[in-house]
Amino acid sequence: MSSTANGSVTMTLDGSNKSFSLPLRPGTIGPSVADVSKLYGNLGIFTYDPGYGMTASCESKITYIDGDEGVLLHRGYPIDQLAEQSTFLEVAYLLLNGDLPTTAERDEFEHGVMRHTMLHEQLRRFYDGFRRDAHPMAVLCGVVGALSAFYHDSLDINDPEVRRISAFRLIAKLPTIAAWAYKYSIGQPFMYPRNDLGYAENFLYMMNAVPAEPYHVSPVLARAMDRIFILHADHEQNASTSTVRLAGSTGANPFACIAAGIASLWGPAHGGANEAVLKMLGEIGHKDNIPGFIEKVKNKDSHVRLMGFGHRVYKNYDPRAKIMERTCHEVLAEMGIKDDPLLDLAMELERIALHDDYFISKKLYPNVDFYSGIILKAMGFPTSMFTVLFAVARTVGWISQWKEMIEDPSQRIGRPRQVYTGPVRRDFVPLDARG
Ligand code: ACO
Repeated sequence: MSSTANGSVTMTLDGSNKSFSLPLRPGTIGPSVADVSKLYGNLGIFTYDPGYGMTASCESKITYIDGDEGVLLHRGYPIDQLAEQSTFLEVAYLLLNGDLPTTAERDEFEHGVMRHTMLHEQLRRFYDGFRRDAHPMAVLCGVVGALSAFYHDSLDINDPEVRRISAFRLIAKLPTIAAWAYKYSIGQPFMYPRNDLGYAENFLYMMNAVPAEPYHVSPVLARAMDRIFILHADHEQNASTSTVRLAGSTGANPFACIAAGIASLWGPAHGGANEAVLKMLGEIGHKDNIPGFIEKVKNKDSHVRLMGFGHRVYKNYDPRAKIMERTCHEVLAEMGIKDDPLLDLAMELERIALHDDYFISKKLYPNVDFYSGIILKAMGFPTSMFTVLFAVARTVGWISQWKEMIEDPSQRIGRPRQVYTGPVRRDFVPLDARG
């Protein structure tokens, strides 16, 4: 294969005189991609890329990641600037619409989202069908999928107004569905949303308040929750986002597509690492045990990994991890937790790992999950809710990516190919002749 200065790559099939020029498509930043869409027609071959690690499955203008430099941009804006200066709903507007809103646009958007926070009263009865000990991700998956049964009026995905209202409904209702999944698991009454509160504030209210007494949401914790939501809002074509796009490419309704994304996020290789960090810190127990633990991690035969370190894309500090660490200190101070042993242990573990040749040479740095479990635990969330919180935030990214896909004129049904390695054609053998 050779590339040329005019923006193409030439592929030659060994043993034949056939070659084909693959056009190169540049991005605004980041590497160009070789367009293989006409490869089969010209050379009679497909490409092979298990896990799609080298395949651009779509064109997108939403999120850019430079894993080597540790950069994450949403619509061009660096994640640290958004986390420090913006709000989750403003970031939602940005992801969905492409630009930051004016004051009037922001007010209209926030009003639009916050007046859809209630669930249909009949949906409330869905919860009774789940076992009390059901995992909240199972409940989330089921109830979000069921939303499509409640909005027959808005399933025409070709209508822009339907897409707009569906985005509002999903962003608005996910916190209510998530908080009710938690309340159901602990046997407390469901708290109805309060639209006079901010998005994250309302979520904390529905999680923690009870009808029997007044409840005041701490502004520091509301801000921390909002920032955690911003940090998880989108991360380009990861497994769950690709799942949403693939489901959506068939013309399935957005509620069903987001339920598919939730199912994909549920897996421990995707959404569950912050829970694993807490477990690991608990097992290490004390700073004195860190050197022994690090030796275990470095020994391949032990199959022990330093959880919260390393990332498929980031080969540098995950930019979200730094903000998480800062937020962690703020939350612990607000909760009156001085000298949290878990945080002390995590910071010492990070310090030692960042100076160790093993981690330096393999470019292993803290990822977003290294500190998030400590924060969420301090805020009182049970570990089973960690992935649910991730799903609430990521719904914004999923629906933005789904909308972008539906509005892309080059969009086709997602249909990967395969290299078949099973038996060649053979004739059926009747049972009595099989021996
Ligand atoms: N601890 C110790 N060694 C590690 C770690 C780790 N956390 N991560 C990678 N390595 C080593 C591997 O053993 C491998 O070593 P080798 O080259 O000698 O074989 C090398 O680094 C490359 O590792 P891969 O597994 O090939 O890297 P990959 O990009 O596939 O893995 C992953 C990324 C899965 C995130 C990995 O770093 C890991 O398991 N981390 C811990 C789990 C975690 O924190 N996950 C959260 C990710 S963030 C998110 O999903 C929101």
